[in-house]
Amino acid sequence: MTVGAVTADGRARVLADGNQLPMLGLGVWQVPNGPVCVNAVRWALELGYRHIDTAQAYGNEESVGRALRDSGVPREDVFITTKFYPGHRDPVAEAEQSLRRLGVDQVDLYLIHWPQRGPTWAWPGMERARERGLTRSIGVSNFSAADLDKVATAGTVVPAVNQVQFSPFEDRRALLAACERLNVAVEAYSPLGTGRHLSDATVRRVAQRAGRTPAHVLLRWCLQHGIPVIPKSTHRERIAENAQIFDFTLSGADMAELDALDRTRGTDRALERGWW
Ligand SMILES: NC(=O)c1ccc[n+]([C@@H]2O[C@H](COP(=O)([O-])OP(=O)(O)OC[C@H]3O[C@@H](n4cnc5c(N)ncnc54)[C@H](OP(=O)(O)O)[C@@H]3O)[C@@H](O)[C@H]2O)c1
Repeated sequence: MTVGAVTADGRARVLADGNQLPMLGLGVWQVPNGPVCVNAVRWALELGYRHIDTAQAYGNEESVGRALRDSGVPREDVFITTKFYPGHRDPVAEAEQSLRRLGVDQVDLYLIHWPQRGPTWAWPGMERARERGLTRSIGVSNFSAADLDKVATAGTVVPAVNQVQFSPFEDRRALLAACERLNVAVEAYSPLGTGRHLSDATVRRVAQRAGRTPAHVLLRWCLQHGIPVIPKSTHRERIAENAQIFDFTLSGADMAELDALDRTRGTDRALERGWW
């Protein structure tokens, strides 16, 4: 498969290292460790999700691991992402702790959560984590085009993924273009705007015209730009709804109307204001 291409069934994107990132995943930010998280992940796996996005900072890796074991879905069929918390020093030691909490031998993708104290210092440790087999792929999150250039120059391998806030309202076109040039797959976090974009009048109008829901429209917009999505929900019916995005297409006119919602002026930055 060609690097950067989406597989013929539209379900995965081929990363620069040859691994495949499923186009749909369940995000679990702000989902408390315990039954709420276990249920959300278990439902997602029952409903056909094969990709879960967690992080050391979310404090719920244990529940993700428990749900995975309870589900009976073979480990090799599920793509698990976790993220290095960059307030800590050693990506290898922290990956080992993540694997223990998740109860798995290896994750599929390990990301630097944000470029705290600069974009390059943690990358050698991320490369070591991959060399030691703790993760199949490594990448970054919340990295601007300039941050990525620095990592690409300093590192042995280029990040396979840059997970950033992306939606019609945060249509970071210059960042997307910079990532494509480096063969870095952009992955969309907060594709529903943490829920805020669902009530937008344009999104609702497009949804009505397409006979779909606002969540479908926002998620499908990313897919049609070749960008994997990781919507979060703790409600079974919404987790099910968010998976129904492979059986319709938004028209060129719908896509253009959504493209016009961008508030970032097509920025090459990952965020307008960092929290670190
Ligand atoms: N790398 C990073 O720095 C970073 C930052 C932010 C997020 N992320 C990742 O991206 C994931 C998704 O982003 P997010 O958590 O900000 O939010 P999101 O997926 O954009 O939106 C989630 C919100 O929308 C609601 N919702 C979900 N589906 C819905 C539907 N079909 N109809 C109505 N409401 C719906 C959810 O409510 P309920 O849960 O109550 O259903 C929740 O309040 C995170 O969980 C995390 O894995 C990563």
